[in-house]
Amino acid sequence: MGYREIYQDWQKDPEAFWMNAAEAIDWSQRPSKALFDEAAPLYEWFKDGSVNTCYNAVDRHVEAGNGDRVAIIYDSPVTETVSKITYAELKERTASLAGALLSKGVVKGDRVIIYMPMVPEALVAMLACARIGAIHSVVFGGFASNELAVRIDDATPKAIIAGSCGIEPGRIVAYKPLLDGAIELASHKPEFCVILQRDQERAELIAGRDHDWDEVQADVQPADCLPVSGDHPAYILYTSGTTGQPKGVVRPTAGHLVALNWTMKNIYDVEPGEVFWAASDVGWVVGHSYICYAPLIHGNTTIVFEGKPVGTPDAGTFWRVIADHKVKSFFTAPTAFRAVKRVDPAGELISNYDLSHLKTIFLAGERADPDTIEWMQKHLAKPIVDHWWQTETGYTIVGNPMGIEPMPIKIGSPTVPMPGYDVRVLDDGGHEVERGELGAIAVKLPLPPGTLPTLWNAEERFLKSYLTTFPGYYETGDAGMMDEDGYVYIMARTDDVINVAGHRLSTGGMEEVLASHPDVAECAVIGVSDELKGQLPMGFVCLSSGVDKPHEQVCKECIKLVREKIGPVAAFKLVCVVDRLPKTRSGKILRGTMVSIADGKEFKMPATIDDPEILNEIAVALKTLGYPAV
Ligand code: COA
Ligand code: AMP
Repeated sequence: MGYREIYQDWQKDPEAFWMNAAEAIDWSQRPSKALFDEAAPLYEWFKDGSVNTCYNAVDRHVEAGNGDRVAIIYDSPVTETVSKITYAELKERTASLAGALLSKGVVKGDRVIIYMPMVPEALVAMLACARIGAIHSVVFGGFASNELAVRIDDATPKAIIAGSCGIEPGRIVAYKPLLDGAIELASHKPEFCVILQRDQERAELIAGRDHDWDEVQADVQPADCLPVSGDHPAYILYTSGTTGQPKGVVRPTAGHLVALNWTMKNIYDVEPGEVFWAASDVGWVVGHSYICYAPLIHGNTTIVFEGKPVGTPDAGTFWRVIADHKVKSFFTAPTAFRAVKRVDPAGELISNYDLSHLKTIFLAGERADPDTIEWMQKHLAKPIVDHWWQTETGYTIVGNPMGIEPMPIKIGSPTVPMPGYDVRVLDDGGHEVERGELGAIAVKLPLPPGTLPTLWNAEERFLKSYLTTFPGYYETGDAGMMDEDGYVYIMARTDDVINVAGHRLSTGGMEEVLASHPDVAECAVIGVSDELKGQLPMGFVCLSSGVDKPHEQVCKECIKLVREKIGPVAAFKLVCVVDRLPKTRSGKILRGTMVSIADGKEFKMPATIDDPEILNEIAVALKTLGYPAV
């Protein structure tokens, strides 16, 4: 069957479609039905089934006789290490760590925060939690203490599992002081921490609270997989919203298993045993779904890559890893290829490697710009497949189902809605717009299995953020259009979220940090276009009256403050002092107009602007930062 028939099949009978997909999962108790819609508009899937994620990702492959198959390849150019873990070894390691967690009192439903670099132990920690029904929440290593503290207070973990350090090109990032700082800042205190000591920087352990990764596992009884009900949260992953308080996206166990397993063949076109590589980080949703869970659930080999697209050691690293490990499907963010293209514009390094096993390259995380796709098509001669999804969904909303039927690629579009997603483009009043017209992209409820049923501790916020603007629909926060062939185009966010190097960040969160600077009376942060990272944050600050510090000094302090409070990942390096901010007569800051000026784009003078002269002042300030860039 082709894509359109399969999509129609799903539309005709979603219940049968998902019950059929659920056959590929090993249940302790099969669910009686797929959709539970009694509490609509809150929906749940496979709720009365009983199942364990770690069993499906690890143990069942061993029991099926595939224990010798490689589950994880760890390829770390920054430590010059390559090692492999078979499914049998992975079972042993997860059972052992899970046993240690149990012995220290972690039980089903307890939260465990994981703050680790890109090492296989990060996956072991995630799976160990899943094994005993503990709910993990992985925090990206590029976030600073304050962000970690916010997550500790929201998730209230019983334990934290951390690495002693991460390795960024040219510097070692000591995680332990960041962790200690976060625990000090947070009101909630974990009962204990488990620290993976890395040779590059060993951490001081706090007696009574911190336990060494190896020592805590000595002599413990390995833990069995504990079946949980289908709606049990597998994990919480915090993502940026419009304020500094991140949203805790909840991932339900059973839907997650069923849906991710379905995507591996149908979207990514890999068979069990083949090598799949997502070059991302376990701290992001791509890392959760496609470094850890989906490839393992489906019995593939996954790669944990600790390095960067360029500089570790060169722009040929991706090709080297693909060739060395015979990767069949490769997935990363467009920004990574922009980095490679900038260093190796003629693609010379590509020809040094045998890429014959590589069939398809997938891109997501941000808009795939045509220049980059065309460069990749020219130099790689493989299908370059864009697909669109979000932390909230955990897998593709709109994509190209390479394992069903490769659809003709239209550059600029992530292609077509996947089964499960009834995608509509709506105007402000919630009416569908004509094909080819711009609007807010929404998905008709219910969302498919595996997508967020709610936000952790924040049901009201869930309803308000996603289900209220367009009753009966999930509001994606993205704007775009659909063409006559049903291809979807994602153009921009409709909120204050920006996308920096494939990382989702909140300008509102950065404004909260700038506003906390004692000399700042008022501020605005916008996302300006950047050739490498897609967008960069840029801050405008107005100083309190009487402040006579040099502007340069205030700017430096603001940059330092954002790095300290949010972390280096915010990439906040552009800031200027202005006398006033452009506003509407009702006092709303005209951020969109400021973005247009910074990007050198034509714009219409907002009819409601209070004082148009301020825009000239903004233009002068932008020049000092080198904007517009061209
Ligand atoms: N721990 C600590 N610090 C980190 C970090 C981590 N895990 N990840 C990034 N940082 C730091 C970087 O060192 C950098 O610090 P600096 O300001 O001192 O230079 C800062 O955070 C910004 O990082 P980043 O935006 O990633 O920029 P970069 O210049 O280091 O790399 C790319 C640029 C494009 C090469 C890089 O962003 C990349 O590989 N992106 C791939 C996209 C991706 O993985 N997306 C995830 C979703 S698919
Ligand atoms: P995240 O939750 O971090 O995965 O970020 C999700 C957001 O990234 C989406 O809402 C989009 O704004 C953007 N995004 C992700 N994938 C794409 C894509 N293929 N094309 C355009 N934007 C994308």
